[in-house]
Amino acid sequence: MRDKVLHTLKKNKGRWVSGEDICKQLAISRTMVWKHIGSLKEQGYQIETQRRLGYRLLKSPDILYPQEIYAGLNTKLMGSKIIHLERVDSTNEVAKGLARQGAEEGTVVIAEEQNCGKGRLGRHWYSAAGKDIVFSVLLKPKISLSETPQVSMLAAVAVARAMEAVCDTKVGIKWPNDLLINNKKFCGILVEIGAEIDCVRHVVLGIGINVNSLADNWPREIRGHTSSLRAEVGEKLSRVKVLQAVLKELDHLYSVWKEEGFAAILKLWRTWCISQHCNARVETLQGSYTGRIEGVNNTGELLLRMSDGSIRAFSSGDVSLRL
Ligand code: BTN
Repeated sequence: MRDKVLHTLKKNKGRWVSGEDICKQLAISRTMVWKHIGSLKEQGYQIETQRRLGYRLLKSPDILYPQEIYAGLNTKLMGSKIIHLERVDSTNEVAKGLARQGAEEGTVVIAEEQNCGKGRLGRHWYSAAGKDIVFSVLLKPKISLSETPQVSMLAAVAVARAMEAVCDTKVGIKWPNDLLINNKKFCGILVEIGAEIDCVRHVVLGIGINVNSLADNWPREIRGHTSSLRAEVGEKLSRVKVLQAVLKELDHLYSVWKEEGFAAILKLWRTWCISQHCNARVETLQGSYTGRIEGVNNTGELLLRMSDGSIRAFSSGDVSLRL
């Protein structure tokens, strides 16, 4: 019911709505209206109250509350359920737990703060509480183990397209799924799976986007190659709008992937890719390799020409470009 009160205020944003009108529209008592308004104020909504005029919403907080994300989202699958948590170790871990309990596809787990954010190759992912976005989406595509990297490439394209929609800045994708602005990383993607021999039961797609954090929020050792949307665009952005844009793009591209296959995604991915035809070092859990990037094959593997002229294909790893 509190969400309905909020919806009524939002419809009339900046204009007065009388307590009586809210009571009539929602068939609730004045006391209940007053209680819900109080709870919304506690959540950070700026609502003005005047005895004769009623209530008017002045400002919504930039907190990733489900009711804020849902407003105008219109996705088919992404956000079928949204869980918002204050603090977690890792949203991926929470989402994996929910998957084991049979949560539905499209469930999104968002946290304001992540204590033990996980990055690729066993690294840590840093995010500033209340400033950045960390979330995980539970997916259940019918794919084999070898096809899982496709999900992370799809997600990278979704973030790149979303950034084009919300802020006017040039984004690039570094294989397989790092998102960069001016050669600095502002978004990372970690895909984890629950699987049986060669059948994927579920995929947890974890995305971290540095939105409003600035250099003093980042550990010294990553400052040189890290950035945020705010640092690059020069102004604070609405986290709600950024997340909505990413969920919309994910929703769209996930359908394209299911209907048309990976080729359609890879075509888009290539248009954003900045790691083509340049010298690079590829770090994997097995070792480090240097060579020249020849491109990406049809399954999304990185092709590196080694010093002896041979070509080596990588399905995972971290690329440092030698520009
Ligand atoms: C990378 O190393 O580039 C991947 C970073 C992925 C970070 C996100 S934040 C949300 C989700 N939860 C995690 O613990 N990690 C992912």
